[in-house]
Amino acid sequence: MSKKVAVVTGANKGTGFAIVRELCKAKFTGDVILTARNEKLGNEAVKMLKSEGFDVSYHHLDICDQGSAKQLNDATETFGEQAEVTMRTNFWGTLWVCHALLPLLRPNARVVNVSSFVSKKALDTCSPQLQAKFRDTELSEEELCLLMGQFVIAAQQGNHQAQGWPNTAYGTTKIGVTVLSRIQAHFLTKTRAADGILLNACCPGWVRTDMAGSKAHKSPEEGAQTPTYLALLPDGMKEPHGQLVWDKTVQEW
Ligand SMILES: NC(=O)c1ccc[n+]([C@@H]2O[C@H](COP(=O)([O-])OP(=O)(O)OC[C@H]3O[C@@H](n4cnc5c(N)ncnc54)[C@H](OP(=O)(O)O)[C@@H]3O)[C@@H](O)[C@H]2O)c1
Repeated sequence: MSKKVAVVTGANKGTGFAIVRELCKAKFTGDVILTARNEKLGNEAVKMLKSEGFDVSYHHLDICDQGSAKQLNDATETFGEQAEVTMRTNFWGTLWVCHALLPLLRPNARVVNVSSFVSKKALDTCSPQLQAKFRDTELSEEELCLLMGQFVIAAQQGNHQAQGWPNTAYGTTKIGVTVLSRIQAHFLTKTRAADGILLNACCPGWVRTDMAGSKAHKSPEEGAQTPTYLALLPDGMKEPHGQLVWDKTVQEW
């Protein structure tokens, strides 16, 4: 049987880096590939893990256009700009990586999309019509993409709330990631039922990283626990699949 491969995106720091370390500590039997969009930072992260005795390699992976991702840090941007850039990184970037990698999955593969508990909070503040769409298990990937595009347009026009959207760009993009994961899981069940592949969305919790700041409750190591648990679900397990999981527990959507 060919060797297993673990690929972690955005892994030069924060939760992604901690996930790589947890996979190594759990003695993942295969190659562990740490990916980052910045080669220097990625290689430095690999060097640190190697100095701890872990065998990790680096691969370059920018899940979307780097220039746009940088704009995330621009405090002067409007809500519409923030919506467009955040959507590109969180939703379209995840979609693109999944489209590139899902066809390569081997039997018993595990896919973990990092969403957030904020997706559930944002869902609860959508209009009843939008909530029904996002909870509809028949919603297609194309329909979801259309909805994410409609949110960005509404945000740019400044009437997203009047159209029933929540007033959070980050939360809405993470609704997209959670629902996309359910759709992809159904697709895998339909097309590769015999292969035992499990795909889920997860929330690491509130984690002390550059993104969340120092007041967050969890260390990166603690934040890595649920993603690592999902990545290492033993062969033969049938669930969770297509779920939003945090603290290793399936959440109601
Ligand atoms: N921290 C929390 O409390 C929390 C809670 C819920 C969910 N999450 C989710 O957990 C994930 C990790 O967040 P974090 O807190 O660990 O944040 P972080 O420490 O700021 O790390 C984010 C990572 O994503 C990378 N990244 C950004 N844009 C990218 C792109 N286009 N291509 C490839 N990599 C890219 C960053 O690379 P650079 O160093 O090059 O910027 C960095 O490695 C995110 O999806 C976040 O939404 C976090």
